Amino acid sequence: MQVAIDGPAGAGKSTIAKRIASERGYIYVDTGAMYRAMALYLIRRGIEADDTAGIEAACEDADISIRYINGEQNVILNGENVSGLIRTQEVSNMASASSVNGKVREKLVDLQRKLASETDVVMDGRDIGTVVLPDAGVKIYLTASVNVRAKRRYDELTARGESADLAVIEAEIKERDERDMTRKISPLKKADDAVTVDTSDMNIEEVVKVIDEIINEAAGK
Ligand code: DC
Repeated sequence: MQVAIDGPAGAGKSTIAKRIASERGYIYVDTGAMYRAMALYLIRRGIEADDTAGIEAACEDADISIRYINGEQNVILNGENVSGLIRTQEVSNMASASSVNGKVREKLVDLQRKLASETDVVMDGRDIGTVVLPDAGVKIYLTASVNVRAKRRYDELTARGESADLAVIEAEIKERDERDMTRKISPLKKADDAVTVDTSDMNIEEVVKVIDEIINEAAGK
């Protein structure tokens, strides 16, 4: 079974995908983490998001792979486990900016397809249902309003004791949506055969239930 979950930042994709995967014994593949690892590599090398030649050369040098430790996906960059270093705002913005590059996408899509060919997966990202796994048995487009997504991110940061500015978060989310949805290669968009689930007024349990029903139906249960 391949379950593809696409949608904008903050819609709850990873929380939901993890839950579905653990309940069903599927592997969860977080494709955003791969783009984030690539972004971290670029930041460390001082390569700018608009330096196409620099980014394409970096694709040759950055070895990105995935390892599962206690059931959790960890992302390995040139032998280093960088999972704890890729959740910053700087990396988020660089991942969005550098993922417009065709070479970056080609490299990471190959890795994603390889993982999905080996086992049952729940994979989340922006182009899973449209490009990476066009034949996925279940395709979900998970979304929520910009204010709700910004507020969730704000709550997450403040709960961790970090300072946060709701207006800044909202502006960054809008900018990221705009770039992810309008890029030339593999923009974020709902696949024609995906089911839209708007999580603005739903809690996690409600979303899991809806998606579980969609998967059961697809699996003929
Ligand atoms: O899901 P995320 O926030 O971790 O993703 C970070 C960035 O990576 C996102 O802004 C766009 C890019 N991305 C992508 O282009 N395609 C994917 N399948 C996943 C992420």
